[in-house]
Amino acid sequence: VRAGRGRGAGPRRYHELVSDDSDGSGRGREAEGTAPEPRGAPWPIAREETAADRRARLAASWDANAEAWTDVVRQGGIASRTLATNAAVLDAVRRLGPRRVLDVGCGEGWLARALEAEGVGVVGFDASEALVRAASGGAGTFVRLDYDALQRDPDILPGPFDAVVCNFSILDAEIVGLLRALGARLAPAGRMVVQTLHPLALGAERYADAWHEETFDAFGGAFPAPMPWYARTLESWWGALDGAGLALERLEEPRMQGVAWPVSLLFTAAPLAAAPSRDDRSARRR
Ligand SMILES: C[S@@+](CC[C@H](N)C(=O)[O-])C[C@H]1O[C@@H](n2cnc3c(N)ncnc32)[C@H](O)[C@@H]1O
Repeated sequence: VRAGRGRGAGPRRYHELVSDDSDGSGRGREAEGTAPEPRGAPWPIAREETAADRRARLAASWDANAEAWTDVVRQGGIASRTLATNAAVLDAVRRLGPRRVLDVGCGEGWLARALEAEGVGVVGFDASEALVRAASGGAGTFVRLDYDALQRDPDILPGPFDAVVCNFSILDAEIVGLLRALGARLAPAGRMVVQTLHPLALGAERYADAWHEETFDAFGGAFPAPMPWYARTLESWWGALDGAGLALERLEEPRMQGVAWPVSLLFTAAPLAAAPSRDDRSARRR
């Protein structure tokens, strides 16, 4: 499965195939163009669905789409990944020089394989049984576990880890508890690395925390289930990290050559207790 743009050749403009169902047609539409475009109202307004239903659909979509997702990732079918975001997250992790990494929402396991090839020990976990099975064929240790179970018992995972990495795997509205539980698995000098959709992709008129729906239309029907996902603003990301006791240490905006805007946001965060205070930081700059 290749992630073509559907109409003509050329790289996809936004990362991760942002599409939505804001017109309520159920068909979704692809976010592409030469600049972020103004959009209509966010999706949930017109549709009755409880938060619990939406979360259940989000989780179920990854089992339904596991085979298609594994094919796309392994065939390098998402240009923003092969041309920008894979290297960006690997660089962010390498910079930390970790010996042990936790790969959160590991999917089919590409990040674990890449890090293990460099001698880093990786534990990956994911709610999707099919994806954990796919990941388990390669290097790394993989566990089927969902974020709720981890929050109930953070010690369910081994640790501590020098780096906890969430690569496009934080998709829910309620994330503070998850971030806090993940922070609890960090070694004292450990860091959290989170890569996510750049909110610029939402467009100015839709720059808000809101549920959206990814239909994966660009893959020509290979993905049987649409995926609800929650978009959040920069301020909201910062608030979630802060609420979870994590201090933003570094913010990057990976880019693809030839594309004018960043394709993702990449945070490196430290447990608040370990992070230098603002006074320390400004003293260091002086
Ligand atoms: C976009 S994929 C990213 C996969 C992988 N990190 C990568 O870079 O290819 C999102 C992943 O998050 C996982 N995920 C989403 N919600 C989850 C939850 N509540 N508990 C565990 N895994 C979850 C999905 O199963 C899926 O594998």
